[in-house]
Formats: sequence, C-alpha cells, structure tokens
Amino acid sequence: MSCTDDATTGACQVDPGVEAGDEPRGTVSIRTIAMPADTNPSGDIFGGWLMAQMDLAGGTHARKAAGGRVVTVAVNGFSFHLPVKVGDEVTCYTEIIKRGRTSLTLDVQAWVCRQDGGAKIKVTEGVFVFVALDAEGRARPLPPVVSSPR
Ligand SMILES: CC(C)(COP(=O)(O)OP(=O)(O)OC[C@H]1O[C@@H](n2cnc3c(N)ncnc32)[C@H](O)[C@@H]1OP(=O)(O)O)[C@@H](O)C(=O)NCCC(=O)NCCS
Repeated sequence: MSCTDDATTGACQVDPGVEAGDEPRGTVSIRTIAMPADTNPSGDIFGGWLMAQMDLAGGTHARKAAGGRVVTVAVNGFSFHLPVKVGDEVTCYTEIIKRGRTSLTLDVQAWVCRQDGGAKIKVTEGVFVFVALDAEGRARPLPPVVSSPR
C-alpha cells in the first residue's frame, strides 16, 4: 500500500529520481521535527532518538490494531541509510506485514524533508514485532480483523 496522505497535509513530495517502488509505504503514524536536543556530541541526530520515534510509531499503529496494550518484542533488519539533520521534518510510516496469534509485525520507515526544502528522502527502516498484552502483562490473542463494508 502506498502512502496517500501527503496531498492533504502539504508535506514534501518523493524525489522523482528515486527507484520505482521506493516510496513511503503504509500509514503516517508520527511526524515530528529533529531538534538540537536530539543530537549526539558530534552534532548529528542520535540514532537512538530515531529508533525511539519509529518504535513509538509502530507501537501506536499496533495498539490500535490490537485493541489495547502492546509491547515491543523484537526489532529486525534495521538500516540507517542516510543521516537525519537538525530541523528535518521526520515522518514515520507503518504497515502491518504479518499478523500472528498474539503478535503483529510492522514495517516501519522514516523519511525526512530537509529544512531547506527539496524531496522526501528515506533515511531509516526496520521491522518491528509487537505483542498484545493482557492486564497481567501476558501475551493475549489479537482481536479478529473486521473487514470494511463495501
Ligand atoms: C512480549 C512477552 C510478553 C512475550 O511473552 P512470551 O511468554 O515469550 O510469549 P510467547 O512465547 O507466547 O510469544 C508471544 C508472541 O511473540 C512472538 N515472539 C516472541 N519473541 C519473539 C522474537 N524474538 N521475535 C519475533 N517474535 C517473537 C511469538 O512468536 C508469539 O507470536 P504469535 O503468538 O503471534 O505466534 C515477553 O517476551 C516480554 O514481556 N518481553 C519484554 C518486552 C519488553 O519489555 N519490551 C521492551 C519495552 S517496550
């Protein structure tokens, strides 16, 4: 599923030079600005901050799909393609790629629009696994998927 929100939010567009198929996938779950407080001692945005944003983005999507509390159980295939800079608008896109009995696997991508404008660039992606929890913190079965009326 391709992202379709940008026309309504006014966000910058994908660089027309990117390879076919390489565009944001899924739902916008978080959009924020990288701030000076998020930098490492070298002045670059700290990778841990970006991982936290992606965990939050995947977690909020998973919580809605699971109908309640979820927890991160695994993060796989995490890649930092390009740096994030202070002032970048960071958008995290999330897509459920697998439903288990109690777990949801989400593809999470972070794309940025640089402060000076220009095209949207994919900086980071990873696969996050969340588990639905009951009130005692034990894994619980996911609710059935409700299909939309035609
Ligand atoms: C999540 C947790 C409750 C799972 O408990 P558990 O007794 O191991 O439960 P299960 O073995 O039944 O696994 C539950 C699901 O997680 C999946 N899972 C467990 N470990 C996994 C891993 N390393 N990678 C991918 N999936 C994993 C299982 O396949 C299962 O999925 P399914 O029901 O869809 O088939 C427990 O591992 C936990 O509390 N972990 C700590 C989570 C945490 O603190 N996260 C960091 C802060 S957010």
